[in-house]
Amino acid sequence: MKAGVKINRDKVISKIDDRIYSSFIEHLGRAVYGGIYEPGHETSDDMGFRQDVMKLIKELKVPMIRYPGGNFVSGYNWEDGTGDRSKRPRKMELAWNSIETNEVGIDEFQEWAKRADSDIMMAVNLGTRGADDARNLVEYCNSKTDTYYADMRRKNGFDEPFGIKLWCLGNEMDGDWQIGTKRPKEYARLACETAKLMKMVDPSIELVACGSSGPQMESFGEWEETVLREAYDHVDYLSLHSYYGNPDDNSQEYLGSATIMDKFIKDVIAICDKIKDEKKSDKKIMLSFDEWNVWFHSAEQDKKQEPWQIAPPLLEDMYNLEDAIVVGDLMITLLKHSDRVKVACLAQLVNVIAPIMTVTGGGVWKQTIFYPFKYTSVNGRGTALTADIQCETFSAGKTENAPTVDAVAVLSEDETEISVFAVNRKLGEDAELDLSLEGFEGYKLTEHISMEGENLKAGNSIENPDKVTPVIKSVDGNIVLTGGSWNYLKFTK
Ligand code: AHR
Repeated sequence: MKAGVKINRDKVISKIDDRIYSSFIEHLGRAVYGGIYEPGHETSDDMGFRQDVMKLIKELKVPMIRYPGGNFVSGYNWEDGTGDRSKRPRKMELAWNSIETNEVGIDEFQEWAKRADSDIMMAVNLGTRGADDARNLVEYCNSKTDTYYADMRRKNGFDEPFGIKLWCLGNEMDGDWQIGTKRPKEYARLACETAKLMKMVDPSIELVACGSSGPQMESFGEWEETVLREAYDHVDYLSLHSYYGNPDDNSQEYLGSATIMDKFIKDVIAICDKIKDEKKSDKKIMLSFDEWNVWFHSAEQDKKQEPWQIAPPLLEDMYNLEDAIVVGDLMITLLKHSDRVKVACLAQLVNVIAPIMTVTGGGVWKQTIFYPFKYTSVNGRGTALTADIQCETFSAGKTENAPTVDAVAVLSEDETEISVFAVNRKLGEDAELDLSLEGFEGYKLTEHISMEGENLKAGNSIENPDKVTPVIKSVDGNIVLTGGSWNYLKFTK
């Protein structure tokens, strides 16, 4: 099959906000305990943070990390994770039926994030708590005043504020699995009033209101409209969450997953702009896709976990090659919408539906999805350009009329490189690209990396960590995208 790809210098989507390459660490399973934090581990630093894990996180160049949840945050008292560690309470953690020791809280996490060269995106508890605790947390983290919570931070050893700029007003508050689920109007009022108080404490912060937990939610649409009608003037972003998977083992259908993400984003943009028009506002609400990934492999094994364990192995999806292709394609989709998607968080980062896995007391290894995330995060900084594509379409299961080839281009800040991220979603059919770079003189293909292989179900493990790694392709001759592959093409001036 042939596919035409035209990249034109004038077809700018947007300057990419680096926060599109963010991730997420929740107090869930072995993400914190046994993941980023393991005192006594041979690689741990003075605070118990694993340096083998840190090294891989830095390889991914993650600019911001959402914390501390997720579902966890809706039952969390942030004060439990501050101050004297010997006095911190052990609690029943109701979101994941685990025991939370509170050994790590915001005091430690902010230090860890600094060491990881990352900012924090902080979520507040709007499940069991509300506006009062949220504004207190903003004061604790960000205020320089001589007042109770800022003083409490100083007493705990932190003279300087943590300076957290981006905050989530709760998490998935429409989900009946959420601690303290809300109806649309209830959440809309709470989010609005909480936002007002938080911004009174620190007017420089930005706020993300919860959108639906996914397009499959019955109240999707109504939820977004209600929240925005109420809180439009007080929030900056609306959240999107979505997970993809191949539970029916239909790989061809699965490789079309990004078309579902694409529609979801377009639908949410339309809602935001409808409310903008209604309000005759000049302000555009931006999107924070603050949970996205593949998540389905661990569903059955998680049901077998005993409750009330400390850091049980939960949501430990073992990813394979087809998952990596889908993750790469989801990133292409986010970049294609980078004019509105300013923040996106790969959920999550370590051990829990994660690109990085650890053995508690042992080594660390990279899942297949590590690679498309890394190549896109490292090379996809600058200005996103549209790739106009002429190609066949395919249908399989719920995937209908999906373009076989999809792509986006990124022009680097210094304009010396054009990175093209591309997928061929059609299994068994290679695509020969007729690729033109319009308005770019003297750029040559200098690198072609792909995720492809015979066995779509192959994955990595601690025993065999390099079974699935990027393939280095020839840069001479025609550009061919193998049937069922994700690709990174670098053009250099
Ligand atoms: O990322 C795992 C979970 O998925 C989060 O805790 C929750 O917000 C979502 O349902």
